[in-house]
Amino acid sequence: MVLTGVIPKYIMPVYNSDWDIAGGVSVSEVQRAVKEICHRLCTPVIADEAHGAHFRFNKTFPRSALEQGADLTVQFTHKVLSSLTQSLMLHLSGDLVDPAQVSKCLQLLQSTSPNYLLLASLDAARAQLADEMSIFDKTVNLAIKARKLIREIPGITLLDLSYFGLNSFEMDPLRITIGTSRLGLSDHVSNNILYENYKIIPVLVGTRSLTFALNLGTRYMDVERLILGVKHLSNKFFHENSRIISICNARDSSFEPFESSQMELTPRDEFFAKRRVSTADSIGKICGDRINLHISIWHSIAYSR
Ligand SMILES: Cc1ncc(COP(=O)(O)O)c(C=O)c1O
Repeated sequence: MVLTGVIPKYIMPVYNSDWDIAGGVSVSEVQRAVKEICHRLCTPVIADEAHGAHFRFNKTFPRSALEQGADLTVQFTHKVLSSLTQSLMLHLSGDLVDPAQVSKCLQLLQSTSPNYLLLASLDAARAQLADEMSIFDKTVNLAIKARKLIREIPGITLLDLSYFGLNSFEMDPLRITIGTSRLGLSDHVSNNILYENYKIIPVLVGTRSLTFALNLGTRYMDVERLILGVKHLSNKFFHENSRIISICNARDSSFEPFESSQMELTPRDEFFAKRRVSTADSIGKICGDRINLHISIWHSIAYSR
């Protein structure tokens, strides 16, 4: 958007304040936005499917972007399959997008000297999947087991689609999102404890959630370590922290980040206009970045114990 100067039309996702997580966008919202932009439906759909390169390879995974009708999708093979870091794939489908035009655009941005280690690793990842279509079965079973064990741990919540009230959405079973706010801990504090004591690193730390990723390399002993770490949090904090829990929950229920969002500048204008200013000089100016006040208040409550 910065390179082309395109004017985006943002679609506000469903938001869950208990988790401080955006759930996704509904089909009707997308249709409304497309109509407002171009009044016709021949707009190509381009998906950022960074975390979905594995979706075609197990029946329990969500349908891939191409299966759902996207014209172009970028999949990060290095994130969820076995290729080297920095290698990914661009997939095309249908005839709305001209491959020659895509190739021309890529040549503007890419080196003319590709890295053959990366290309070979992409081919190896592709071959690995072609050779063994059931390759994800073991990991899916580990994820089912992990979910079952986490559900039994007092004070820990496990994210599922029921929190968003939308049954047309799908979730990746290999991503396990837990909440520790009932323990009176911010998830940044839980994250530190899990890392320091168990060397567990989530794939994503939210303000009220930790997401763990299982993958082809995940072993049963890794799941055991995760369960041990989460049990440790529960044993140590569940019964102590009821006062903090009520303070945190009371202030967070009114937090609705997307409701009042509106675009003040296009991404390109914002990119070139952004300046660092002192706090005093910032009054009345448009904020150029996210301020996570939410996190810092939560932190100070948790740390002040
Ligand atoms: C959905 C999504 N898109 C794009 C990116 C950008 O990835 P990278 O900086 O590795 O190119 C990320 C990074 O995690 C992501 O999660």
